Amino acid sequence: MNENDRYYQHTLELLEESYLEADARGDVAGGSGSGGGLERWERKRRVLVGAFDHDGSWLDVGCANGLLMETLTTWAREKGLQVEPYGLELSPRIAEAARRRLPHWAGRIWSGNVMTWEPQMRFDYVTVIAESVPATARHDLVERLITRFLSSTGRLIFSIYMPRPPEAPPELPPASAVLKRFGYGVKGEAEARIDGELKVSTAWLDVTSARPSL
Ligand SMILES: C[S@@+](CC[C@H](N)C(=O)[O-])C[C@H]1O[C@@H](n2cnc3c(N)ncnc32)[C@H](O)[C@@H]1O
Repeated sequence: MNENDRYYQHTLELLEESYLEADARGDVAGGSGSGGGLERWERKRRVLVGAFDHDGSWLDVGCANGLLMETLTTWAREKGLQVEPYGLELSPRIAEAARRRLPHWAGRIWSGNVMTWEPQMRFDYVTVIAESVPATARHDLVERLITRFLSSTGRLIFSIYMPRPPEAPPELPPASAVLKRFGYGVKGEAEARIDGELKVSTAWLDVTSARPSL
């Protein structure tokens, strides 16, 4: 097993059981990795809807039990936007639990690693969190999403969630700084705080203006 595979294995060891157990006891936010129930979930995740400003298809990379697929489409609808959600999940067991929870979307929740899985379609939006891949693979992740997942006018929404696991290497938010360091043009950015504490840092780029050379 190489270093990257060890990282993904470690991700599964960290998350799989706790997400599945949370889901099984009806803690749907916990089934997507967020403590404190649905009210805190909204305070942390609603910020992402700021990146949506037109109708379209959306892939949530690392969709867990599909709660973001559900809630973000509702928040987008409140803005008058029609967003069609799709999900990709590393853990086959979590993906299966998501399909059981959301049977009407079962056909659009896939299991695979974003770095090897090949999408069958292009998306208008893709959301992803930095820690889906090791720090050394993050530039490749962004490049891969731009060239293989997003439509030619698509938008990538790249986030860092806090607190980070204690094992994670230090990398400072904001998410926009990470994208800029890789040389991409950032279209917008936002953050969510609870009681002053940073919970989500997000930034988005458009394929059309991500790189001067594109
Ligand atoms: C914190 S949850 C995110 C849930 C939801 N998308 C959100 O933004 O709140 C992260 C999920 O990403 C999945 N994941 C981690 N690395 C991944 C990878 N390389 N490819 C696909 N999914 C991955 C994990 O298994 C986990 O279910």
